[in-house]
Amino acid sequence: MIIKPKIRGFICTTAHPIGCAEIVRREIDYVKAQKPIEDCPKRVLVIGASMGYGLASRIALAFGGKADTLGVMYDKPPQGSRTGTAGWYNTEAFEECAKDAGLYAKTVNGDAFSPDIKDMVIDVIKKDWGTCDMVVYSLAAPRRCLYDSEDGENDTIVSSVLKTIGEDYTNKTINLQTGEITKVTVTPATDEEIANTVKVMGGEDWEEWIEALSDAGVLDPKAVTIAYSYIGPELTHPLYKDGTIGKAKENLIETAKKLEAENDGISAFVAVNKALVTQSSSAIPIVPLYISVLFKVMKGKGFHEGTIEQMYRLFADKLFGAESEISTDENGLIRMDDYEMSPDVQAEVAAIWEMINSDNAKELADISGYQHDFLELFGFDVPYVDYNAEV
Ligand code: NAI
Repeated sequence: MIIKPKIRGFICTTAHPIGCAEIVRREIDYVKAQKPIEDCPKRVLVIGASMGYGLASRIALAFGGKADTLGVMYDKPPQGSRTGTAGWYNTEAFEECAKDAGLYAKTVNGDAFSPDIKDMVIDVIKKDWGTCDMVVYSLAAPRRCLYDSEDGENDTIVSSVLKTIGEDYTNKTINLQTGEITKVTVTPATDEEIANTVKVMGGEDWEEWIEALSDAGVLDPKAVTIAYSYIGPELTHPLYKDGTIGKAKENLIETAKKLEAENDGISAFVAVNKALVTQSSSAIPIVPLYISVLFKVMKGKGFHEGTIEQMYRLFADKLFGAESEISTDENGLIRMDDYEMSPDVQAEVAAIWEMINSDNAKELADISGYQHDFLELFGFDVPYVDYNAEV
């Protein structure tokens, strides 16, 4: 079949296997061209391994640090005339390249929130490794099933929302299909919505994973675990840092402290990453316009990074291989958003933000770069891929 992108709102319902594989190979080549990651853990579990920061973490640790990896994802294989999901094709390509390089790579496909998937992963670790020495927690999920009913039929499902807390927030946003800039008002969440967002995107499931692995005796007593967060500039604070998702991230940070306190010897970190185009960030109002402006500024200054550059730098320079102690900010966070948040970048972004409108958006923001990165997430618009060829 010939596969074309079918975009509905902020998701693409098709994915291109050759394009996805090409991007995975490109990221692997990037890592192979860097210096090796010193002192890298060698048996790494990556939860949320098929897209975005989780996939980039897996690639960086495997090809930069020669780590064996076990991934957890929630993806669909191709069926009839429906393509598989991008995460499915990414993982297929990753496993093939890892095996060719003599690296162990297996993936469990199913709901990471479920006790069954945790048990399945524990069985694989017991059988294949004995213990794992690193856990990357990189889930970005719109909802979570709580698996709280006897029959499984009546389980509660809670959803995360991207809303403010307390007051409305109005700012500019972009329609990425048309390039039109309009005002959007984000409304405040109810207490229940805030609590549900924390359930989905906070640290509870991360903690359940670490507990389950530790109780089963498959977590190395000196294991390292890491999860990801975002802070961003003031213009995004009402709906991110100070909004529902920010509450969930506060909980994630508290969880890191709790994991260290309750598991003697374990190191738990939260890295604050750069804003990038991923399936999750595309769903947040205002943020895609901010990212388009940010990309224009950072590309202009020559220090733009994608997920793979961020994750390679995290592991090679900050977490492992660091010459002295791991450098964190006053809240104990590893700041991978250091270039994004540098005062000169943020001053330029703020100046552009004031001026930008539908007429000048194409010059002032990297709209085409955003659109390209969005298509690439699904394996489209990748150089040298023949999209008219049968797949
Ligand atoms: P993404 O949408 O690209 O990837 C999410 C991954 O989670 C995919 O592999 C997906 O298969 C997996 N997943 C989702 N629900 C699942 C489930 N129920 N069971 C198993 N796997 C499941 O997301 P992205 O953007 O890479 O986000 C990862 C983390 O990084 C999140 O914590 C996010 O808040 C954080 N982050 C993202 C930033 C961005 O700009 N995209 C910036 C800073 C942090």
